[in-house]
Amino acid sequence: MPYRFTDLLPEDFSDSALRADVRKGLTARPKQLPPKWFYDKTGSELFEEITRLPEYYQTRSERAILQAGAARIVASAGARHLVELGSGSSEKTRLLLDHLRAPGSVYTALDVSGSALRQAAEALGVTYPDLRIEAVRADFEQHLPTVLGDGLTGRGRGGRLVVFLGGTIGNLQPAERAAFLAGVRAGLDPGDAFLLGADLVKSPDVLIPAYDDAAGVTAAFNLNLLQVLNSRLGADFDPDDFTHRAVWDESQAWIEMRLRAGRRVEVRLAELDLVAEFEAGEELRTEISAKFTAGRLESELTAAGFAADGWWTDPDGQFSLSMWRPA
Ligand code: AVJ
Repeated sequence: MPYRFTDLLPEDFSDSALRADVRKGLTARPKQLPPKWFYDKTGSELFEEITRLPEYYQTRSERAILQAGAARIVASAGARHLVELGSGSSEKTRLLLDHLRAPGSVYTALDVSGSALRQAAEALGVTYPDLRIEAVRADFEQHLPTVLGDGLTGRGRGGRLVVFLGGTIGNLQPAERAAFLAGVRAGLDPGDAFLLGADLVKSPDVLIPAYDDAAGVTAAFNLNLLQVLNSRLGADFDPDDFTHRAVWDESQAWIEMRLRAGRRVEVRLAELDLVAEFEAGEELRTEISAKFTAGRLESELTAAGFAADGWWTDPDGQFSLSMWRPA
């Protein structure tokens, strides 16, 4: 079946949002940038490489959970319609789609990248010729009401399973996370379900190397952000002026990735008509990656109006998938 493509974002979405984020983040104290700008072509390739590193357990752990449990997850959700937020390549989603075999089943993939959506939808169409595939270019922090709340995914009939995999929930700040969860909840009806992938709190001896690997791939991934700003905003960052840092913040229960200026640096961002100054040793926060306990997830999801309906971890207890229903 040919897939349908719906675009909810303005053509220049990624340009205008990048400009606003960089202007705000580089004039803030401490300086910070949202992690979504890591993923240009090089950044996406480096992330793929990260997922294969011996130190980076998350992708393997989540895949192991899906391999062992996808059949039961899809069956217990009673799912006929899978809606994936931040679908990317939809690679791990295949483990769920393999069990979405009822006639008339639908897969709605939502991502900000039109090219990733088209590529994934084409490939899925070959493997699942009977599946109705809807590709929606949208921002899950903005378009949940549109995507979940109306004709796009057929609200009100039940049987929708909304999935948010990969631990991406950890990249949201606490307030953003609460708003996101409330948005998902508001879009669900009785009979729908939400499947969430979240990384678990564990020893910093495991967490730090996962974000500061021996081969230096995560360092390259982090530093590539400066090249993104150079090529897209005419900035003149010299990546050699900065070093990669991964810090475990115990009180917030999150990993922070930072870029630390080794000397005093003045950076010109031509397209923003902005000069950013870094003191020697000053750090730019480029990502938070929050880690959860079962109890913390339960209290946050309960506060957003969900009731627990399933919990799975990998054999080493590193990563979690959990299922939630409207309370
Ligand atoms: C894709 C957001 C889950 O936070 O672990 C990997 C991104 N950053 N290494 C994560 C990432 C550094 C990753 N997520």
